[in-house]
Amino acid sequence: MSNLYTIPIALLLAVLCVNCEPLNRAYRAALQLESGITIISSTSQGKKGLTFVKEAHLVDFGIDLVGCRNWSDPNGMDCNAYSGDTLCTERRPVLCTKVDNSPRPAYIILGQGAAMPAYFYAGWNRGHIATTVPVQGSQFANRAAVDAYCAQSFGTGWNVAQFHDGMFISGMNGTTYSGASWTNNAKNQQSGGWHYYSYGDVRNDIRFWVHIKDQPSTCWAQ
Ligand SMILES: *[C@@H]1O[C@H](CO)[C@@H](O)[C@H](O)[C@H]1NC(C)=O
Ligand SMILES: *[C@@H]1O[C@H](CO)[C@@H](O)[C@H](O)[C@H]1NC(C)=O
Repeated sequence: MSNLYTIPIALLLAVLCVNCEPLNRAYRAALQLESGITIISSTSQGKKGLTFVKEAHLVDFGIDLVGCRNWSDPNGMDCNAYSGDTLCTERRPVLCTKVDNSPRPAYIILGQGAAMPAYFYAGWNRGHIATTVPVQGSQFANRAAVDAYCAQSFGTGWNVAQFHDGMFISGMNGTTYSGASWTNNAKNQQSGGWHYYSYGDVRNDIRFWVHIKDQPSTCWAQ
């Protein structure tokens, strides 16, 4: 069912049952659509959310590379940062992160880059990642609810991981801009995207929900 049909139905149901939480949510989403903001209700049929996957683990540093791409899939890029890639009714772990300003370990920057230089795609999240048990993306009303779920799962300071969490310094590679040199050049750090490194060793058997700002590709509202 297309969203063109979903909007009037959501409005109708909201009038009938304003205090019912799921319908209320559909009503809010319909209002957002009416006001021209392209947030689509997670209760919309077929709504998809953005996911990452574990791409590598570097034993020497105890770090993971997480991102869009399942390298064992010959068909290429598996995530869709713009409209989501996994039905919100599916159960996936949430990728959570705790940023503690850990300096960048001396990992090597691989690849040629693409639209952006290679550093952009190999950022450092300045902390740790962990995955929750699998849950439906549609169970979260908004980002704050996902953050709260991460904190409930792992403790204070844990939040949902974001697409742009990886920070890079142009020219970083191996020991260049690692350790103290990373920290001392904090003013030159910029946000990357699509993939990043973090302390952790998360599961590799399933993709996980992540947040992205300014895109309608999350199961929850911003
Ligand atoms: C990083 O250094 C390695 C060699 O240590 C080199 O192969 C690689 O191309 C470098 N990466 C970039 C982005 O220059
Ligand atoms: C990665 O792709 C392979 C090949 O298509 C597939 O068997 C595997 O389940 C995928 N891994 C994840 C975590 O989705």
